[in-house]
Amino acid sequence: MSKGIQTLAQLAELKDQIRHHNHQYHILDSPLIPDAEYDRLMQQLLAVEQAKPDWITADSPSKRVGAAPLLAFDHVQHQVPMLSLDNAFDSEALLNFDRRVRERLKKQAGTDVGLPINYTCEPKLDGIAVSLQYEQGLLVRGATRGDGNTGEDITTNLRTLNTVPLKLLGSQWPERLDVRGEVYMTRSGFNMLNQTLLERGEKTYVNPRNTAAGSLRQLDCRITANRPLLLCVYGIGQVQGWQIPKTHYAILQQLKQWGFRTNRETRRVTGANACLSYYDQLARQRDQLDYEIDGVVFKVDNLQQQQQLGSVARAPRWAIAHKFPAQEELTQLLKVEFQVGRTGTITPVARLQPVKVGGVTVSNATLHNMDEIKRLDLREGDNVLIRRAGDVIPKVVRVIIERRSHDNQAIVAPDCCPVCDGPVEQITGEAALRCINGSSCATQIKQAIHHFASRKAMDINGMGDKLIATLVDQKLITTAADLYNLTQEQLASLERMGNKSANNIINALQASKQTRLDRFLFALGIPEVGESTARSLARHYGKLEPIMMASEAALKHVNDVGAVVATKITQFFADTHNRAMITSLQKAGIGWPEYDPKKQLQTDLPLQGKVYVITGSLKSCERDTLKARLQTLGAKVSNNISRRTDCLIVGQKAGSKLSKAQALDIIIWNEETAVAKLQSLESGK
Ligand code: IVH
Repeated sequence: MSKGIQTLAQLAELKDQIRHHNHQYHILDSPLIPDAEYDRLMQQLLAVEQAKPDWITADSPSKRVGAAPLLAFDHVQHQVPMLSLDNAFDSEALLNFDRRVRERLKKQAGTDVGLPINYTCEPKLDGIAVSLQYEQGLLVRGATRGDGNTGEDITTNLRTLNTVPLKLLGSQWPERLDVRGEVYMTRSGFNMLNQTLLERGEKTYVNPRNTAAGSLRQLDCRITANRPLLLCVYGIGQVQGWQIPKTHYAILQQLKQWGFRTNRETRRVTGANACLSYYDQLARQRDQLDYEIDGVVFKVDNLQQQQQLGSVARAPRWAIAHKFPAQEELTQLLKVEFQVGRTGTITPVARLQPVKVGGVTVSNATLHNMDEIKRLDLREGDNVLIRRAGDVIPKVVRVIIERRSHDNQAIVAPDCCPVCDGPVEQITGEAALRCINGSSCATQIKQAIHHFASRKAMDINGMGDKLIATLVDQKLITTAADLYNLTQEQLASLERMGNKSANNIINALQASKQTRLDRFLFALGIPEVGESTARSLARHYGKLEPIMMASEAALKHVNDVGAVVATKITQFFADTHNRAMITSLQKAGIGWPEYDPKKQLQTDLPLQGKVYVITGSLKSCERDTLKARLQTLGAKVSNNISRRTDCLIVGQKAGSKLSKAQALDIIIWNEETAVAKLQSLESGK
């Protein structure tokens, strides 16, 4: 048996110690000891329990996972029904609710109808309602809401959630306590789970809510234990042996003391207008939260007033859900178009019958590549479910197959470039198609010049999308180098230009000629060479010519440059067209001072002052590379999660850092998101 634990009292103390650290970590978001120390305590407990099985108790922190798979869920009768909420879909409905509350209270208890009501405001979490029964502080049963009167017994599953206390903290517990709350999944947890399912070739989930529901209804609790589920509590049901406080807000405070997680956005306000302000503020925050909410719940705070107001059949009169616009909607796929990007990548885009989703009109959605179209089994004319949540780009979630008419056309990949009719090829190892006609494909030319002129590249003031399009369409330019041959007269003769604007452009072009080597390299638009890689190359070589002549093997010695990037760089400089453009640019007078790394210390880096943590194993790049890229963008990369962490990047098999970050509501990026975000920051978009 483990050294140090000889008696039941010592074992109880060890369990209390573990519970205390669990609470600090999962509920208060402020771990007091390193993970390794926590693991040692848990190992000690497991060793004692293995040596003395009869000392094992149901509330032991080691007994979260372990029950055998069930054949079916038992039914549980709720002693106090689990009510639903009435909805308000606009501010008028909310004001009417408040008026009804005041009038009813006036009638029943003589309260002045003019008196504003105190409300507790809580985010309406989009998850699954559960009820947890505690007897003498111990969790005895957990159930779903079901029809409000009878739910399903999901105790073994709920026990696996670290945010569900198996034993309440403190000591003055009610004899019986029924706690109500929502089980939900974070967006980051959901994205990672789907990513894993996708890699295993399994079916993915549609949204975090369905996933949370599916995860809770597993007959084998080991599956639930592996899902990133959280519990947030928002009220109580039946209670015995407890002097209930006077307000709902005070109940929430007490639940917190007993070790539950309550929502940190909860506020107590006075009057309906303050409720509306809370709603507006949360609506603005909505996309930044790492969990989905579908509205705000306003509850009359005073429990005596709640009692006076009472309930109707399925909902209390003292609470209302003020809903946000829905994040999923049905619409029709009109057609799929193929867009060409700067480096020739051809991306399918869904053109949709415009529909309001989450308060924004959506008429396009991303489809990524042909594999995605195949996965969705998408056809033109299909009815589709669109989702716009958190991220700004809407996506097609699924096809409503039942509504498909038999003549809906299959979507075929283009066999030539939709812009220039040039040849296309499948990028090796990727699902994407690419137009290989770079130098004569109008869209690629326009985008390449747009990139060249952008702020983080040559920074040519006034050289916007429209002007570039006109110049290319009128065949005044075909490469970025041609910009420097434009004359004042040519520019002034363009529609809506005039002498003054033309002059400004000429001046901006002139001013851009004195640049920096890293900016120039970035401006060239070498595939895979973002701002950070350009800076590494400039730092490493100091001059342009050796970079142009460097072999792949030599390039791989540059910080931030791997095999793929090295190939792209040598391919770019081997292309005679690219070399000719560089010569023209140099002839036009573009130059830079000798590279001085000390001068490159920038104060306006996009991630300046931000703290990042990386955890888990990464697939697409090495951790050191990612770290270097973050640092080049100005971020500090730390090893530990704390309240000061701004973002956690997670790879495969992420461990405790992930749950710690989730508990602290820190932004979490999976590897794919991180790479995409860094790329866009590096390219200054
Ligand atoms: S209070 C009697 N508070 O919304 C009051 N519900 O539409 C009953 N929900 O079944 C619920 N967040 O699943 C309440 N802060 C919150 C909530 C919340 C989410 C869900 C809950 C309930 C449904 C009612």
